Amino acid sequence: MDNFTYQNATKVIFGKDTEKQVGEETSRYADRVLLHYGGGSIKKYGLYDKVVNSLKEAGVEIVELGGVQPNPRLKLVKEGIELCRKEGLGFILAVGGGSVIDSAKAIALGVPYDGDVWDFYTGKAEVKKALPLGVVLTIPAAGSETSPGSVITKEEGWYKRPVNHDLLRPQFAILNPEISFTLPDYQTACGTADIMAHVMERYFTNTANVDLTDRLCESTLKTMIKNVPIVLENPEDYDARAEIMWAGTVAHGGLLGTGREEDWASHDIEHELSGIYDIPHGAGLAVIFPAWMKYVYKHDLKRFAQFAVRVWNVEPDFNNLERTALAGIERLKEFFSSIGLPVTLGELDIPDDRLEEMAEKCTENGPVGNFVKLYKEDVLKIYKMAR
Ligand code: NZQ
Ligand code: ZN
Repeated sequence: MDNFTYQNATKVIFGKDTEKQVGEETSRYADRVLLHYGGGSIKKYGLYDKVVNSLKEAGVEIVELGGVQPNPRLKLVKEGIELCRKEGLGFILAVGGGSVIDSAKAIALGVPYDGDVWDFYTGKAEVKKALPLGVVLTIPAAGSETSPGSVITKEEGWYKRPVNHDLLRPQFAILNPEISFTLPDYQTACGTADIMAHVMERYFTNTANVDLTDRLCESTLKTMIKNVPIVLENPEDYDARAEIMWAGTVAHGGLLGTGREEDWASHDIEHELSGIYDIPHGAGLAVIFPAWMKYVYKHDLKRFAQFAVRVWNVEPDFNNLERTALAGIERLKEFFSSIGLPVTLGELDIPDDRLEEMAEKCTENGPVGNFVKLYKEDVLKIYKMAR
């Protein structure tokens, strides 16, 4: 196990009706805030009114900025920065999924910074300050509700890039699984692929002697495999929705990666797809992750066989670990298909003509991944294997 420092400072408030606490929580930080949200689901399903009422009761005034799109864009972030400056706002409340939260985090970075907020996403500027933010989560998926990450797309060139810093962890995150009852099946499935990917990016490691975190990763994956089919059958199954929502936060809060090297190649490879083709991040991962696995599994057959046996209950073949390893990858793919996700680029209607450009863009700052370092040619092969 490697040395590590672990601190996840986000206060998680979990369970039925917890959105009613948003006013009280927010009022600890500010009495005027930016209320940031997406394309309208929160108004359609009544969450907006509940949040606004709770804020009002706690004496918190709001300035609103809605309209965050999935794969959130830089343009709206800049509008948000201007709005916060003009209105003198020092706290942002994000009500939505990963896209809304990431957009809020970008605004939080941009307000106290003199230059172009995109500088943080290219690595040109170092994060030193950010406004505090709070979250009411509507979809278990990105894990942004307690993560230090924000992923934004710059329209010029369709670059989708992340920044990570502990200052971007929200002050609080309110998680009511009932809010996820209204998710369309496809969004539930996309969120599932993302949650499982966040675990697998940590699971496939070169660090030895990480038994505890291996087991935590495996149980988080098994929790998803058990509960997702239940909610696809019955979207209002509270217990299953609760397992999934908590798994989504645990998957990306940092605990599962403690003491071990993490990979992240599949995420980097995927971000080119959702950046250019504007597909859901989770759908892109369902296509890329199995292809990445097929490309790298020989690097550590034992780890892939362990994944197959412990997560997917594959019968181990001790004389042929490769067969066991490949069976695990196949089970993952079958699971993604069974919950309605694409597993090939073709199913996403992504043509072949820009694979080279994406491989180039993905590796422009050097190789991606840690389990196996991948250069442009490797990434291109993975895109081709995903066709
Ligand atoms: O915009 P609205 O109308 O709210 O609709 C959203 C959106 O269309 C809808 N939705 C959300 N909650 C709903 C709902 N519909 C009905 N009922 C509800 N309760 O779902 C759609 C997708 O929302 P989005 O926020 O885009 O989903 P997700 O949480 O998957 O976020 C994806 C973004 O997060 C980034 C991804 O790259 C992508 O841009 N990620 C962020 C990370 C981080 N900050 O740590 C890590 C991840 O790896 C990921 O890259
Ligand atoms: Zn992700």
